[in-house]
Amino acid sequence: MSTFPEKLEIDGYIIRQALPEDAEGLYKARIDVASHCDTVLSTPDEISLEGVRSWVEDWLKRDRRLFLLVERDGEIVGQLWVWFYDSKEKLKHVAEIGLEIVPSHQGKGLGKKLFKIGVEWAEKNGAVRIQAETLERNTPVIKIMEECGFRLEGKRYALVKNGNRYENAVCYYKIVGSTTERE
Ligand SMILES: CC(C)(COP(=O)(O)OP(=O)(O)OC[C@H]1O[C@@H](n2cnc3c(N)ncnc32)[C@H](O)[C@@H]1OP(=O)(O)O)[C@@H](O)C(=O)NCCC(=O)NCCS
Repeated sequence: MSTFPEKLEIDGYIIRQALPEDAEGLYKARIDVASHCDTVLSTPDEISLEGVRSWVEDWLKRDRRLFLLVERDGEIVGQLWVWFYDSKEKLKHVAEIGLEIVPSHQGKGLGKKLFKIGVEWAEKNGAVRIQAETLERNTPVIKIMEECGFRLEGKRYALVKNGNRYENAVCYYKIVGSTTERE
């Protein structure tokens, strides 16, 4: 089991490991984001309480999976996921990061703090390559990744269909371990 031992308090926010009993709060936060932000892949009807519950339970059983939540006044306002590609021996050094902040707490520096925690955790847990993907127009995440030393790797064209619009995604990476392949 992968655990995040600390319970961090930053600017009135508590950051801690997600637990199965948080499923309802996590679900509500995901619905809030999916209902108001078209930069996430899931639509609200693709998110279920049962799905979130089994996701948390499954991740808690596995090594090298991080599922953190951010709380403010007892409400969940953000989530961070870091996962290693551990189903394949040759990809075990690769970690990926995803995150969401509810609309009422966006733009307050929370996403940046959370992302940095995810990068540090991935490094501590043996990542050599860390990657993340987002829509080409998702400026806040791109700024965060670039500030954390991530580099643009390429685009995935017309990956996401938002209404009638096909959108490109951008792939970012950071090499943090020992390798000669840095570019
Ligand atoms: C994307 C997201 C995680 C960013 O988290 P956040 O807490 O809102 O972002 P921060 O406040 O940490 O801001 C990060 C940077 O983006 C900038 N920023 C924030 N909102 C912005 C906006 N609307 N336009 C341009 N820049 C913006 C900030 O100024 C900051 O840049 P700086 O370091 O130069 O000051 C969050 O907004 C979110 O969850 N959005 C919806 C879901 C989503 O898109 N998730 C990511 C999928 S890959």
